[in-house]
Amino acid sequence: MDSFPTLELATHGVAKGGEAVARDPDGRVVFVDGALPDERVLVEITEMKKGFHRGSVLEVVEPSPHRIDPACDEVANGCGGCDMQIASVDHQRDLKVQVVIDALERIGKIADLPAIETVALPEAGYRTNVRCIVVNGRPGFRSRRSHHPVLIDRCDVAHPLIQDLLGPDSGTTRFDGCTEVTIRVGAATGDRMVIASPSADHITVPDDVIVIGTDDLAAGKTASITEVVAGRTWQISAGSFFQTRPDGAQALVDEVRKVIGPLPSNARAFDLYGGVGLFAGSVFAEDTRVIMVEQNESSVADARVNLADLDTTIVRGKVEQWSPRRADVVVADPARQGLGRNAVSRIAETDAPVVVLVSCDAASLARDAGLLSRKGYRLDSVTLVDLFPMTSHTETVSRFTVS
Ligand SMILES: C[S@@+](CC[C@H](N)C(=O)[O-])C[C@H]1O[C@@H](n2cnc3c(N)ncnc32)[C@H](O)[C@@H]1O
Repeated sequence: MDSFPTLELATHGVAKGGEAVARDPDGRVVFVDGALPDERVLVEITEMKKGFHRGSVLEVVEPSPHRIDPACDEVANGCGGCDMQIASVDHQRDLKVQVVIDALERIGKIADLPAIETVALPEAGYRTNVRCIVVNGRPGFRSRRSHHPVLIDRCDVAHPLIQDLLGPDSGTTRFDGCTEVTIRVGAATGDRMVIASPSADHITVPDDVIVIGTDDLAAGKTASITEVVAGRTWQISAGSFFQTRPDGAQALVDEVRKVIGPLPSNARAFDLYGGVGLFAGSVFAEDTRVIMVEQNESSVADARVNLADLDTTIVRGKVEQWSPRRADVVVADPARQGLGRNAVSRIAETDAPVVVLVSCDAASLARDAGLLSRKGYRLDSVTLVDLFPMTSHTETVSRFTVS
């Protein structure tokens, strides 16, 4: 059997998934897992494609000054949950800014980029929503290189209320009969919920934990927790999206509110991809007429509860198929795949002078920025709100205005 080559390479950049970028002696791009930019590393090539190769670090010959030993022991055990533990937290943010700039220039073809601001958040104990694979009743994450399950004793980025249900010391917790569990907690309320797949019939958890199976959800049952963000209490059901951390949700609310700026009195605002109503319920002045659009039934049901004291109009449907009206501002926070051509067309039909785009993927942000620029919107500002320290995931709030 052919074995893949081993090469010593100099890395010079960073790619979207947190891999460093190097060139082999033939000038071909090599994405190197486990390396940082500006290092010399011995690399085992693991995948050879026509246009590029991938490899993994066997040895760091000359380390970056920003390289650190991962704080979490589970990285050495093979856990692939956090792919940026080898860099200092400040450097992680610099690398993510670089990923966003590269994407906007290369994919979005955006010239004259504004300087990218950053918002830092605590790097440990932050996640209030964690999805684990389960083997023999115990939780784990996928290995970075092989995607095999790695059982874990702890997770540094998980909120203590989740941590308590993970390790071997979790005492009364076992996820028997499951292949996957999602654990969601309310940091402010102490609520805890386990969503077990395919069924919660055989799991054992402390008495306070709300339990529901994906089979129950498919049969129409619901379960929810509550969280407090921006001074409001949010009902979050098992089938609804909510930001991964409440301080991150608060940081996004602050940033979106800031970049919207002052609106005329009785302005009309659209909150597209509104989820359980986070932005609709917290970023606008009382006299703004807010219309929220969301396709997910569970999120819409939560939004109706969460926004019951406000005059918000809640529309259930797909943004691409909604009938836009003139607006003073549009806030859009799509899922990872971004807005795409049809949703950008709907947004442009509002004639809104300001569009605020919240993006959880740098490539989608760049594509959407390119599409918006072809509709006459100029990218004014981009802020990286670092919701996911220790990982390469990017979250940005961008403001576009009519050019
Ligand atoms: C990233 S979440 C943002 C939710 C909310 N803005 C928040 O911060 O909590 C994206 C939301 O878009 C919804 N969604 C996905 N595709 C959609 C579509 N085509 N039309 C309307 N909503 C969609 C999802 O159900 C999800 O609630």
